[in-house]
Amino acid sequence: MILAAGKENIVRAAQMIVAGELVGFPTETVYGLGANALSASAADKIFAAKMRPADNPLIVHIADLEQLDGLVTSVNTLEKRLMAAFWPGPLSLVFPASEAVPEIVRAGLPTVAVRMPAHPVALALIRESRLPIAAPSANISGRPSATRAQDVMTDFYTTVELVLDGGVCDFGLESTVIKVEENLIRILRPGAISMEMLAGFAPVLVESFNPDEKPLSPGMKYRHYNPEARVILVEADSAAEVASRLQTINLDTEAAYFGLAVMRPPLSFKKIKLLGGSDWLHDYAQLLYSFFRDCDASGIKDIVIHQVPQSGLGYAIADRVIKAADVYLRREEGGK
Ligand code: TXA
Ligand code: MG
Repeated sequence: MILAAGKENIVRAAQMIVAGELVGFPTETVYGLGANALSASAADKIFAAKMRPADNPLIVHIADLEQLDGLVTSVNTLEKRLMAAFWPGPLSLVFPASEAVPEIVRAGLPTVAVRMPAHPVALALIRESRLPIAAPSANISGRPSATRAQDVMTDFYTTVELVLDGGVCDFGLESTVIKVEENLIRILRPGAISMEMLAGFAPVLVESFNPDEKPLSPGMKYRHYNPEARVILVEADSAAEVASRLQTINLDTEAAYFGLAVMRPPLSFKKIKLLGGSDWLHDYAQLLYSFFRDCDASGIKDIVIHQVPQSGLGYAIADRVIKAADVYLRREEGGK
């Protein structure tokens, strides 16, 4: 059941967390599927419900720095500065884990990822339950993350009893995951806390996505965040260029388009989300996953999206759309 995230329902959700049950809840990034992070059996329910591979560790959510002490064995100066700058917020840090963190939460690693979310409902739920809450994104593994309470219910209506409704998530993209190594910041997953923002603190290393490993067909191992529909990602600088690149594709007659209004190719679409204005990159991130989900709900077979400029938030978006893409129509070698 989906309940408005008022005080009474947060108390009820906290009681379920304490009892070892799963609760869907909003964060500023995406909805989380939460459980008591200190209980192996509660965490086990997350893996079962999500059908998540056991080798993929969970992020533990906290509401104050005291909770961190119980979860990790050491915190260095750089990590402290990053937490002071970006917490609460969409940054997860990987620390050496204390023995209190069950092995299943860490997926057997000696480390644990921790984040303090910047969402009043998430923080209230953690405080009310007096427990750190392990929460992956609230989607069946491989599917787009949930950015609305209803999306959580769509994926988990048989396995999750309660979802707290906090409206649409602000960022719509999962947090940046980093690991501090000596005096370096290694980005394990790009997010809204961009490498440009992190570079003010220390040198940043990022695993750049290899163009030759970009997914060109379904079922490739890098495919994530994917709707049922075929996602066609187009690299282009104009609507005309998008249209010409699409000529190589046998596009379904009832396709969908998501992206900038000025990049929309002159074709008829059954479903359209047009973006524009100075904050369009934020909107692209915020609305992408829900657009994917809405397309699936209306039986759309093909979704056309355009690639974004790969700096700042754009880098994180590019990471996700490349992984979601079934077909990636790139610029010709040497061409623009
Ligand atoms: O924004 C978010 O991070 C959302 C909300 C709910 O907080 N959560 C989320 O969790 O996206 P999940 O489980 O979908 O993604 C967690 C990511 C995975 O890429 C996982 O491999 C990585 O964090 N991760 C977790 N623990 C790690 C560790 N100890 N070492 C390296 N990577 C870790
Ligand atoms: Mg996820």
